[in-house]
Amino acid sequence: MKISVIGCGYLGAVHAATLASMGHSVVGIDVDPGKAAQLAQGTAPFHEPGLDELLAHGRATGRLRFSTDPAEARTAQVHFLCVGTPQDKTSDAADLTFLVSALEGLLPHLAAGAVVVGKSTVPVGTVDMLREILARRPDVLLGWNPEFLRQGTAVKDSLVPDRLVYGVEGGRPAAFNPHTGAPTGVTAALDAVYEPLLAAGIPRLVCNFATAELIKSAANAYLATKVSFINAVAELCDAAGADVTELSGAMGLDPRIGSRYLHAGLGFGGGCLPKDIRSFRAQAATLGVPAVEQWMRLVDAVNLGQRERTVGLAAELCGGTPAGRSITVLGASFKPDTDDIRDSPALDVADRLAAAGAHVTVTDPKAVNLAWRRYPRLRFEASAARALQDAELVLLLTEWDEYRQLCPAAAGQQVRRRVVLDARNVLDAAAWQEQGWVVRGLGTSSGAVTAAAVR
Ligand SMILES: NC(=O)c1ccc[n+]([C@@H]2O[C@H](COP(=O)([O-])OP(=O)(O)OC[C@H]3O[C@@H](n4cnc5c(N)ncnc54)[C@H](O)[C@@H]3O)[C@@H](O)[C@H]2O)c1
Repeated sequence: MKISVIGCGYLGAVHAATLASMGHSVVGIDVDPGKAAQLAQGTAPFHEPGLDELLAHGRATGRLRFSTDPAEARTAQVHFLCVGTPQDKTSDAADLTFLVSALEGLLPHLAAGAVVVGKSTVPVGTVDMLREILARRPDVLLGWNPEFLRQGTAVKDSLVPDRLVYGVEGGRPAAFNPHTGAPTGVTAALDAVYEPLLAAGIPRLVCNFATAELIKSAANAYLATKVSFINAVAELCDAAGADVTELSGAMGLDPRIGSRYLHAGLGFGGGCLPKDIRSFRAQAATLGVPAVEQWMRLVDAVNLGQRERTVGLAAELCGGTPAGRSITVLGASFKPDTDDIRDSPALDVADRLAAAGAHVTVTDPKAVNLAWRRYPRLRFEASAARALQDAELVLLLTEWDEYRQLCPAAAGQQVRRRVVLDARNVLDAAAWQEQGWVVRGLGTSSGAVTAAAVR
């Protein structure tokens, strides 16, 4: 099939490359000329494992192109909208202006009978709003196909998704072909797009627009709830003298609970979860559902509180104030295996400590080049070995494998004081303590120390 993908960021670039790998002829359109040019060369403009290989393959087969010109999409039968829906600058709601301008830009180039499918994460009512833009083109069909990929495993998640969700008019295929019994309309178009995935048995759910719009927000709200729940319990563990990693490990063995997203630490950030739970909260307020609204407010507050707590613990480990201290931060991206620094908890904590007068050096395997421009108060080093030099306090804030596997003896040779705050609770505390390190985690009070102990 001929397909266009409008918006080639973390979601769109992966989607375009995945569709080309399935045999479709795909053009990706992005307003950013630098991004479009780099993608056209077959290299990803951001770090995502496996994406370079997929882009190079698409380029070599001639099935994958990129452009800044929406007219290049004119022969496509299906158009996927993958532009950003960030938090509005003045409220918790999602800003839909990129979506509106993407559709308006595409409108003059839509072929008769084309199908437009949104993949961006949007609030309820978005489809109704976009339908007004399409009012002059009753021949064009609109559908919603929310995306669940996770940065860091986005290629795998796209090639083998957990499920496919189709939001369609009325919540069911418009009609069935009387001869074959196969669905028609948006459902048929998406079935053709995802034919290899459906053949492999990936579940597909067809629902109405409001459900499709809410599924993704509700899924992210649930994941955020799980993270904030265990982080609230971590604080309880510290107060009670319990260890949250042992507690969550035991809880997670219950299949009704599961261990994923049940790991206490610095909390979530990035371009999705924070803005999605705020958009969910704003939707609940608009729709008059205070329980969801209050719930999301608490989840957000607990999450942001972890950053505050980490800054406070760092100050405590510095003997009361971080001012004048040399602090090394391991990790800048919002999570491992990505260079995305949008709403990064690590950089937020690092910047707050610098604002309090600490000399903060940050290192990250992939994100240094993106971060240094935006955080003038911080010093950046490309390697952990250099960043650790003469540190009086080490903070592990993003759990890259490289930092999980750091050798405590070797790291101990580089620092001035062997004190580490493991805000992701991933280090083997006993192994570090054996090498003379003072180790502190979040909710692991067995490693707690008083300020006096580290002076
Ligand atoms: N990043 C993820 O892991 C992920 C996962 C699932 C869903 N989503 C959702 O997908 C959407 C996109 O997220 P993202 O992380 O890829 O954002 P992003 O900022 O990385 O990418 C958006 C891209 O759209 C481009 N763009 C903006 N206006 C355009 C226009 N009019 N025409 C063409 N291109 C335009 C931008 O230049 C940018 O490259 C959001 O709604 C997000 O919530 C993201």
